Amino acid sequence: MNVLVVGGAGYIGSHCVRQLQAAGHRPVVLDNLVFGHRSAVGEGVPFYNCDLGDPEAVAPILRDEKIELVMHFAAFAFVGESVTEPRKYYENNFVATLRLLETMLDNGVKKFVFSSTCATYGEPESLPIVETLPQAPINPYGQTKLDVENCLKAFAHAYGLSFAAFRYFNAAGAAEDGRIGEDHQPETHLIPLVIDAATGRRENIKIFGTDYDTPDGTCLRDYVHVDDLSRAHIAVFEKLETPGAGHFYNLGTGRPNSVREIIDAVEAVTGLKVPVVEDERRAGDPPALYADSSKAQNELGWEIKFTEVKDIIETAWRWHQANPEGFAD
Ligand code: UFG
Repeated sequence: MNVLVVGGAGYIGSHCVRQLQAAGHRPVVLDNLVFGHRSAVGEGVPFYNCDLGDPEAVAPILRDEKIELVMHFAAFAFVGESVTEPRKYYENNFVATLRLLETMLDNGVKKFVFSSTCATYGEPESLPIVETLPQAPINPYGQTKLDVENCLKAFAHAYGLSFAAFRYFNAAGAAEDGRIGEDHQPETHLIPLVIDAATGRRENIKIFGTDYDTPDGTCLRDYVHVDDLSRAHIAVFEKLETPGAGHFYNLGTGRPNSVREIIDAVEAVTGLKVPVVEDERRAGDPPALYADSSKAQNELGWEIKFTEVKDIIETAWRWHQANPEGFAD
């Protein structure tokens, strides 16, 4: 299948491009390189540097590349920034996505795979999180993702769009060959920051909150390998053959790890000591978030290869050792 990967030069998108190739599909990448890295995309992959919300740029790509399905990974994802600069998030994550969907429909492309988030659940009523729990985001980031989910439902009903929205938990790790990995500027995610603290690239890791109602007092999260996430996006293709079909899936391992456990695992994998500072809670952090992903496993045959967080960290460490400064560009 010819697949347009919007945000294909970003962290999750670039891993998905390689999984698409491995599965025999033909990815085409669209990325404006605001956060993406050109060198995260392999040489042979068609690459377009433009904005997803620009119909004049996107329509010819859909036609010329004979695109059959669009995957959309290109969003701003700093939760704190979404609170202080919501305009940016509504503009990029919602308005530009709406433009992309309109351009698709105007050009007869009716299959869509969307990166949603567990942040749409806000502070969940119960754990592990199942797809049917109420969604009540507590920040504009999560809200804009939920707004797109709702838009997709209406478009499926009215226009025959078929879609899958994946609600990711904490994407982590890197390609097993160490060629691509996580490189955010600025980096805010726990695992790469702990690795930086281990190697001395930063002074220490601050634990945000040690008095949560969790076994060791630090937050629990569900770290899921980026290639496992990517494979679910391909496993869903068959479901999108039915016009108007809409599917929502949680993607997580269902095995939560605390912040302290992540620090211990990084020390075990790297053999290095991580300097730790105990700090205040970070605003907006729920104590525990982990998934029930049995729907994706049962309906899509989704198999989680990386069930142990140490194995996920191992891949992040391999990438870090090969590319301590991240991507060249
Ligand atoms: N943490 C620290 N110190 C740090 C960084 C993080 O203690 O320096 C803690 C956080 O408080 C949290 C955990 O490590 O408990 C994981 O934090 P991340 O920032 O890596 O990830 P989040 O769980 O906050 O965010 C992820 C995604 C977001 C998404 C969110 C949904 O990165 O895009 O899950 O809750 F919105």
